[in-house]
Amino acid sequence: VLQKALCIIIGYVFGLFQTGFIIGKMHNIDIRDYGSGNSGTTNTMRTLGKKYGFITYFGDALKAVFAIILTSFMFGKVCSDSMMVIALYTGLGVVLGHNFPFYMNFKGGKGIAASSGVIFAISFFDWKFVIMGFLTFFIALYLTKYVSFSSLCMMTGFFIEMIVWGQLGMVHNLHSNDKIEAYILVFIMTALSFIRHKENIKRLLNGTERKIGHKKEESN
Ligand code: G3P
Repeated sequence: VLQKALCIIIGYVFGLFQTGFIIGKMHNIDIRDYGSGNSGTTNTMRTLGKKYGFITYFGDALKAVFAIILTSFMFGKVCSDSMMVIALYTGLGVVLGHNFPFYMNFKGGKGIAASSGVIFAISFFDWKFVIMGFLTFFIALYLTKYVSFSSLCMMTGFFIEMIVWGQLGMVHNLHSNDKIEAYILVFIMTALSFIRHKENIKRLLNGTERKIGHKKEESN
């Protein structure tokens, strides 16, 4: 239990590094005052352009990768849990830190770049996840042009894959006694993504969600 709590805490600390917010500050703006009001990749790209959007994506995804590498080295050998479970606890911590940073009044991002970093990192143990995540996101984006919808497809896919492949015994490095824990952790990450996309879902339903490819926007 102590190791799992430490994974969440270490993940949370890594998650506090808000790339988009920092880049906004370097441009003397609070990124949350623009576009969708989010501090993530999509809104940074929308507000400051592609280059800064990509930097935000890599910063937010890599913090999850680094956090998971660290806790895997710290606890991988001494812990009886699957490496996958250690990685998922850490990943959940990163998403929590990213979405709810205490120093930004708990108003951070939506956790998609960070979650994709988690998917990438667990692919060190099982490569299937990154391939499916990538395909799901980009096929949905190609068809709909909605980043938010594609992000939610990716997260839903992640949850379904974990359950289906877990049940079929196809998730590498997942002991059978750790399965339920892995399902719950991915469920929480997926549920958090839906909660943080509440406004996007409303806009998708009433047809006012922004599509990719729109030029920079002014303050809302
Ligand atoms: O990664 C967040 C994305 O899914 C939606 O971002 O700024 O359009 O709310 P945004």
